[in-house]
Amino acid sequence: MRVTLHIQKYNPETDHHPHEEPYRLDVGRGTTVLEALMRLKNETDGTLTFRYACRSAICGSCAMEINGTEKLACKTQIRPELERHGEVRVGPLKNLPLIKDLVVAMQPFWEQVRSIRPWLDPLPHEAVDPVAMRDAYKAFNNVEACIMCGACVAACTVYEVSKGFAGPAALAKAYRFVADPREAAVTERLDRLQGDGGIWDCTRCNYCVEVCPKDVKPMEAIVLLRRASIQSGLTQTLGSRHITSFVDIIRHEGRLNEGLMPMKVIGFRIKDFLRILPLGVRMFLRGKVPFPFKLKPAIPGIKQVRAIFEARKRK
Ligand code: SF4
Ligand code: SF4
Ligand code: FES
Repeated sequence: MRVTLHIQKYNPETDHHPHEEPYRLDVGRGTTVLEALMRLKNETDGTLTFRYACRSAICGSCAMEINGTEKLACKTQIRPELERHGEVRVGPLKNLPLIKDLVVAMQPFWEQVRSIRPWLDPLPHEAVDPVAMRDAYKAFNNVEACIMCGACVAACTVYEVSKGFAGPAALAKAYRFVADPREAAVTERLDRLQGDGGIWDCTRCNYCVEVCPKDVKPMEAIVLLRRASIQSGLTQTLGSRHITSFVDIIRHEGRLNEGLMPMKVIGFRIKDFLRILPLGVRMFLRGKVPFPFKLKPAIPGIKQVRAIFEARKRK
């Protein structure tokens, strides 16, 4: 089958901007995007630049954008892409600095990973619980399967606008150490993730989960880190207060009270309160939030709601 691949080209020495070029070649039923790129480089355009190593979805180096989604080129066949999209467009990963054609600089990615201290602070051997150790791989929630391809970081909507965000891969890696029964500094690790750029900045858009070729589910790891933080008493960030306030209101009223919510989350932090006040007033005037101090009756089934909370507490 003869196909046209639209491939992004960019040579920093001659081009002002990246541009797409069409490349035609014959492909077989199972030809992958990586195989097509290798053939094009050998037969058509020796300047075509891309990364790869294992060709087996193991090393993570061939991650790129294929028809608008972050994928491993060695794991992506051309035919299904054509059937689904009617074309094959190949570009570099977003959110990382472009070097040439399909190659991006991975330095920011590695800095994110380094920022979470990806090594154990080990407990003394005799302090490690052998039973927990036996089941440790289950506790990791598959985060140890990460091949550091960077696809999740390229897809992350928060990293796109805030380069201070630790990013999905690094946070998933952070969870791996928090869940490790040999780790001695769990609370310190969690504490370091509370500030700007940490776990509470994730908007739970789920893109990192969708694009990960190894089913690492970084967003789930972030949710587990949030849960571990609250259980460790780290409850003073706006993110954690949002969760605890939400739960409190539901427990008392059986429904969300949007007027009360910001007051409970922000509490007595005058600076934060003044920052959101104009928005709150505008929303109130447009009827978007109820009067905060209006006593709303709890919903008729509130007893059952509270019974659910009690049952949860007993577990
Ligand atoms: S779920 Fe969070 S970490 Fe994952 S892509 Fe969205 S914002 Fe980024
Ligand atoms: S979490 Fe998944 S997408 Fe992100 S770097 Fe690891 S393997 Fe790649
Ligand atoms: S070449 Fe190693 S993952 Fe694709």
